[in-house]
Amino acid sequence: MAKFLASLLFCSLTCSSAWSADPDWWRTAVIYEIYPRSFADTNNDGIGDLNGITEHLDYLKDLGVDGIWITPFYPSPQVDFGYDISDYKAIDPQYGTMADFDRLVAEANKRGIKIINDMVMNHTSDLHPWFIESKSSRKNPKADWYIWQNGDAKGHPPNNWQSIFGHSAWQWSEPRKQYYYHAFYREQPDLNFRNPAVRKAMYDIIRFWLDKGVAGFRLDAVPSLFEDPQLKDNPYFDGTDAYGERNVARAYTDNLPEVHDVLRELRRVTNEYPGSVLIGETYLPNAIELAKMYGKNRDELHLPMDMQVGFINKLSVPDFRQKLLEAETELNGNTPLFAFDNHDNIRAVDRYGDGAHNAEIQRLLATILLTPKSAALLYYGEELGMVTNTPTKVEDVRDPIGRIGWPREKGRDGERTPMQWNNDTNAGFGGTGTPWLPVGENYKTVNAATESKDPDSLLNYYKKLIKLRKENEQLREGDFILANDASTRVLSYLRVTKNGHAVVVALNFTATPQVANIDLASRGVKGRHAKTLIESFSGVDTVDLGHIALAPFGAYVGQVEP
Ligand code: NOJ
Repeated sequence: MAKFLASLLFCSLTCSSAWSADPDWWRTAVIYEIYPRSFADTNNDGIGDLNGITEHLDYLKDLGVDGIWITPFYPSPQVDFGYDISDYKAIDPQYGTMADFDRLVAEANKRGIKIINDMVMNHTSDLHPWFIESKSSRKNPKADWYIWQNGDAKGHPPNNWQSIFGHSAWQWSEPRKQYYYHAFYREQPDLNFRNPAVRKAMYDIIRFWLDKGVAGFRLDAVPSLFEDPQLKDNPYFDGTDAYGERNVARAYTDNLPEVHDVLRELRRVTNEYPGSVLIGETYLPNAIELAKMYGKNRDELHLPMDMQVGFINKLSVPDFRQKLLEAETELNGNTPLFAFDNHDNIRAVDRYGDGAHNAEIQRLLATILLTPKSAALLYYGEELGMVTNTPTKVEDVRDPIGRIGWPREKGRDGERTPMQWNNDTNAGFGGTGTPWLPVGENYKTVNAATESKDPDSLLNYYKKLIKLRKENEQLREGDFILANDASTRVLSYLRVTKNGHAVVVALNFTATPQVANIDLASRGVKGRHAKTLIESFSGVDTVDLGHIALAPFGAYVGQVEP
């Protein structure tokens, strides 16, 4: 408590509104993910930086986001562009200084925007002093900070575990004459979370950043924190992976029950800082597994990411109905966090688009992201319509997995191209430096400056939706109720508050015009008309709920009039 009071005092002096009046702000939040390397470059080195984020805070405020999650900016050899951390309590000079970070937090808080750090607990860089010490001998004080094992009788890796980034997850280390385990690149050795000293070190790091005024963390690779201590082989299944290895199900390397012990401990740490949030990178097979991440007593993650809804990857009404329903009914009343895009997956428009109606489909996806009862994650450039720009030649690939797995795995460069600010040189990403990745080809028209002037742009569609979601009581607090069970062409749902007031959302999932007939009575809602709040195509001010005309892939949001 003393610590909390001290940080409160510190923050009242330095970070004006870090401590939100509403400790549950995250339940309805729109959080914007920034890949700092690609956002804005202020020192002409072709790499984005923290000052670049600070420079564009007004844009983010105008967009209406509540918080920004910044992917790792700590000192790092940058093998995995920051997800290989060599010092958890400093800033990589590529991205700026600690003073720049403090300024960013203060300026963001002035605008009511919270800063969420990315925290990589599963692994460090192989150049982190902890690992350098750990690998130096079997007797050093940090000998047990990582996952070390002898080889098998023939000196081969101890079992068949595979790295998510290709080939064996075991790497030989000559000084110890042992293998170490790495779920990701070999330069990212896994920490041993069975060792209490490792846990304590991580929690100290978490407190360090909370004391600096951050509002929480996006926790990397949550399911990977523990591995089977008996080192059982993972089961094989048919086929090979992108790296040419036999497919393995990650039964003994992912999502072990011990993960929850760490999440509970972490939650206790963040509870010392009311209003802070733990977001989890939680790729899980289904909603039942996702539900466990909140904790039986709501004492683990506040917002484990729901990777079910946004990654259906086809516009199928039954699939969306099922996944949205599960998010509403299977998560024990906890808040889902929906996302369609991030820095690890080709952009949603390239997963859901049909080529002919991409502009309409982007608006449709934006509406699904921002109108259910959920928190929402946006990825930089999603609001503009940036597309994936996958390299066509292996020589051009920067992301190592693209080189290891070429051509089946082309890496993640395509979704990490520079933010498109305007139609100047390099899309206004920086000054004179050549951006670390090529700018997307559509930047002349798809950019923040051009779109902010066009009332019909995608950017303005996002802004309107975000504003509406904050201002409209039903969209803020209403229960989520699916409507029109039988339709395979139109997805429709209601947001209904206790006073019976409702908002209706109708989404045409087809390339032809559709007419939606919303059945309110069976959902206990009264009304025959709706006043249009937002629609993705030009239309009318009011509609008859028995007859909502929807343009191809059109999205309609209206206030039901009793
Ligand atoms: C998930 C991150 O999102 C990804 O970019 C990274 O490569 C891996 N975790 C390893 O840290």
